[in-house]
Formats: sequence, C-alpha cells, structure tokens
Amino acid sequence: MATRPADLLSALEDLTEPSRLIARLGGGFTPALWVVGGAVRDLLLGRVPADVDLIVDGPLGPVAAALGGEPVRHERFLTARVGGVDLARARRETYPRPGALPTVAPATVAEDLRRRDFTVNTFAVCLTGPERGTLRCAPTAERDLAERQLATLHERSFLDDPTRLVRLARYAARLDFSVEERTRDEIEAALTAGVLTTVTGVRIGNELRKLLCEPDPVRAMVALRELKIDGRIATQLGLIDDQLARRALALLEPEDRRDRTVLAAALLGSSAEVAAQLLDRWGFPAEDRDVIARTVAQAERVSRRLEYASAPSEIDWAAGGPDSDPELIALAGAIHPANAAREWLVELRHRRLAIGGADLLTAGVPAGPAIARGLAAARAAMLDDEAPDAASQLAAALAAL
Ligand code: CTP
Repeated sequence: MATRPADLLSALEDLTEPSRLIARLGGGFTPALWVVGGAVRDLLLGRVPADVDLIVDGPLGPVAAALGGEPVRHERFLTARVGGVDLARARRETYPRPGALPTVAPATVAEDLRRRDFTVNTFAVCLTGPERGTLRCAPTAERDLAERQLATLHERSFLDDPTRLVRLARYAARLDFSVEERTRDEIEAALTAGVLTTVTGVRIGNELRKLLCEPDPVRAMVALRELKIDGRIATQLGLIDDQLARRALALLEPEDRRDRTVLAAALLGSSAEVAAQLLDRWGFPAEDRDVIARTVAQAERVSRRLEYASAPSEIDWAAGGPDSDPELIALAGAIHPANAAREWLVELRHRRLAIGGADLLTAGVPAGPAIARGLAAARAAMLDDEAPDAASQLAAALAAL
C-alpha cells in the first residue's frame, strides 16, 4: 500500500493520463492540477484505479491553452475536455433544494473535497506546481480508510443528493467496506423523510445502472437491501434470494447481460407491465426494458416448462426458440436447478438451420403460417440429430406439413 505522498505521486505518475499530462505541462505548471477521488483512494487500498479524475486549482483556460487545442467547455459545470483529457475546475456546490442538481461556483481544492459524497472519496494528490506531491483529504478520511468504512462528510449529504444512497451500496460492495454508525442513522433519517422522491427517476436509474455493472452486482443489490434502500426506490425492488441470482449468473455466457439478469432477479414477482413502468421511470433503454420485463414475468413459467423437457427439441421449445432471451432462460434455470437451461444457453441457442423460409417457398409451400411451422419442425429434427444437413431439414419441414 502506497502510504507516503511521495510514493503516491510516483504511483500516479505510472498511470497513463497523469504521466502524459506531466510530460506535456511540466511538474512546475500552475494553476495546479490535482488527482482526486477514486484513483487516490484505490492506490491507497492497493487497488488498480479504474479512471483518474483531475481538478484544476484555478481557471481552466491556461491548462487548455498549454495542452493545445480548443477545449469543449461545459460552463455550467466548470468542466472542459481538451486533448482527450477531462478537466474540472475545483468547485463548491450548493443545492438550491433537496434532490436538485447543484449550482457550482469556483472554489479552492479544500472546498472541492468538502462537497463530496464519502470521506474515503476525498483524497487528492497535487501533480504540478509548488504543492506537487502534497496529499489532502477530509479530516477523518484516513481513519475511515483504515477502518474500511463509508462515512458521509456532513449530515445533509443524503438530503442534498439522494443518489448517494445508491452510490453507498455500490462502494460498500465493491470495496468490501462497512457503513459507519452515524452514517447509518443518516440513511435511516433520509429514507424516513422520503428523500428518494425528491430526485428524478432517471438519476436513480443512472446510479442503478452503474451498480448493476459492478464486478459483483449481486453483492451490490444485497447491500441495497441490507440498508433498506431498495424498497424505498420502489416497493417491487429487492433481491430477496441472492443465491438465485448467483445461480442465474453462473449459467450465462460471457457475452450475456449480467446487469439485466440481476435486475430481473430483483424485480421477480412483478408483472411485465409494472416492471416496464419502473424501468421507463428509471430511464432504461427500450430493449433492456423489454427483456427485463419479459424475464420478470415469464421466468417461473419457463422454469416449469424446462423441468419437463428432455429431448433437445423439447428444451428449445420450452425455452421459446433460438431467439429467446438468455437472461430469461438463466433465471428460469436458476429457479429450478435445470441442466436443460444450461444445455440451451451453451449449445442449442447457437445452432441454426441450414435452410430458410425461401427454401420452403421454392419447394412450393405457400407463404403464411405454414412456413414457420415447417421451419420449426426442421429445427426440432436438427436439434434431435435427425436432420444434419439442408436436404434432410427440408424433408423434415415438408413431412411436417
Ligand atoms: N461524487 C459525489 N456525489 C455524487 C457523485 C459523485 O460526491 N453524487 C464525487 C465522489 O466523491 C466521487 C467523484 O465525485 O469520488 C467522482 O464521481 P464518479 O466519477 O461518479 O465516481 P465513480 O467513477 O462512480 O467511482 P470511483 O469513486 O471509483 O471513481
């Protein structure tokens, strides 16, 4: 663990972005650049930082000019992107009303650290200028990091920004941190006060999406549950059976969507309509919404069908055919420990017929439902190893008609 500021600075200089910046600006550059937040926290924990957040202790203009190129500026948030680097001016934030987006104003680095969500996210290391190599943080940040606990900086934190409740669960799961006692009280008070109703569904959705993309989304959903946050987001939301979700994830292949699967597991018991309404409110893309809503509504039924399927063609039928949703089949398989789900996910869904509808038309089958029936029969024969090639599949289709 890099504990001394000098070690931290050199660890930061080994990362691509800071090293490029120092090479281009020089170590003496002012206004000073600071690396702040997750990257420093992760280095202190001996973890590899995912991304590097940079703030500038002064106006962004000189940095942008020194880096060359026109910055893309977002004045409202005092941020700019220049030469592939995201920069933010050190700022203070005020919340016009609970749950609203903050109003930002230029401020010192110390003030910028005070606006943050949790003490362990307040570490900052100065990269350039006279303070180069200095480590700053909130007064209790080092203690909280050593004790591996999440604590807010002040008691209004969750009222200012209720999305921090979801962030807390995400960090607790990812870092394997507990929640400090006073912060637990603040969570309870905030939930009782109904803070989650003051923020838009899309902002909650954004944090839920990040949580579901964690390396261990099940653990993050369990953290939401333990803190009793999930049911306040929506009464239907809550991962009651984490082992069920884990079994479902174990059935997926790498290209399948773990996030959709875990969210569906956390919404089990809802109707497709209710699930779709919630997902719309949270701003999920239409395709995610549809797959998750179908999975929630059909998992039980498909699991019963899979239980009684044994021949490959029966399994494929029970699963709903080759274009069914893998999330649905994984969750169905997890409900009843069904090898059938695994067989479909690993093998059957990837198998495709050598013939198509056009071949049936050429063979004289009239356009209409007969085509689909014929293709289904050919597929069943193929899966049961009775029709390995185009000729035998065509014969199987025609025989069925
Ligand atoms: N932050 C905050 N309140 C929020 C969102 C962000 O205080 N609602 C602060 C946090 O201190 C965080 C920093 O902004 O460290 C960067 O936020 P973000 O990029 O969202 O962090 P993540 O990438 O989600 O997580 P990590 O801390 O691992 O970088």
